[in-house]
Amino acid sequence: MLVLGIESSCDETGVALYSTQQGLLADALFSQVELHEVYGGVVPELASRDHLRRLTPLVRQVMKKAGHQLSDLDAVAYTAGPGLIGALLTGASLARALAFALEIPALGVHHMEGHLLAPLLEKSPPKFPFVALLVSGGHTQLIQVEAIGEYQLLGESVDDAAGEAFDKTAKLLNLGYPGGPRLAKLAEQGNPERFKFPRPMTNRPGLDFSFSGLKTHTLTCVRDLQNQAELSEQDLADVAWAFQDAVVDTLVIKCKRALKQTGYKRLVIAGGVSANTELRQRLEKTLQGMGGEVFYPALQYCTDNGAMIALAGALRLEAGQSDGALFPALKPRWP
Ligand code: KG4
Ligand code: ZN
Repeated sequence: MLVLGIESSCDETGVALYSTQQGLLADALFSQVELHEVYGGVVPELASRDHLRRLTPLVRQVMKKAGHQLSDLDAVAYTAGPGLIGALLTGASLARALAFALEIPALGVHHMEGHLLAPLLEKSPPKFPFVALLVSGGHTQLIQVEAIGEYQLLGESVDDAAGEAFDKTAKLLNLGYPGGPRLAKLAEQGNPERFKFPRPMTNRPGLDFSFSGLKTHTLTCVRDLQNQAELSEQDLADVAWAFQDAVVDTLVIKCKRALKQTGYKRLVIAGGVSANTELRQRLEKTLQGMGGEVFYPALQYCTDNGAMIALAGALRLEAGQSDGALFPALKPRWP
């Protein structure tokens, strides 16, 4: 079966073609980063308009790359939420219109299910069951995954998501947008011995997270430094290191706890922050020490992309699920 996947929930237009027999056949992505950079964050109306401009050419490009016609498609999957409503509408409308015209099923996919399943695109995918750490700009969640569609939330952030904390802290350090990768890059030059930031919510039981206090802690630290002298590049790098160290360490502690609680030996990390090198390395080391294994998507499938949506749609189609011909409401917020 051939499934076209469309992602348009935020500032990335992603389209991909997935075959249940041959795997990922083609994918294309257009990132709107430059469009939003001057505003220091995503402007929803600009995002929707740009998705409209890019979607159809990207679909054509993907079909051509894979050597297929639209008439070969068996289903169209699209992100139905959570995300920006206008942005979601562009991809969903195209997907629904295509499915209607081709008389094939359409499937609305939960964006986070897409992220969670993205490691299954890899050559050696994780076997079920596993614990998944989903770390993106909007979510930080630990999930017990028994099978496709069988997800149990073990814990989540009570305030900012890890990616959001990276972005807000980067803004505070004047690193611009998108902040996460820039802060991570700067942290490489940091001195690990200089500052030690707190590891929020690790000294009590449970699997929830809280990252908003770390942002405030960073702000206080920066202000203290500014009161002494003008901030140097090295100061900024040292602060960036301490912040990243605290986030990564907190995530590692909670992952260990979740693995212990479930008795599982496989950990999947996905979502934008799973691109973070420090996080990957420390989790690998941790899992090695526990006799387990860690799985993550290739870098281009950590952040938003069409491949994960095509894959999630294909797996749901194989499981006999589809949404019917009506256009169900999109869910900008979707627990
Ligand atoms: O999954 P994603 O592309 O979009 C959402 O669904 O939110 O995640 C984007 C988030 C942003 O907050 C971004 O700063 C963060 O992932 N991110 C990183 C890195 N690459 C992306 N955070 C830390 N280190 C990175 N290397
Ligand atoms: Zn995402």
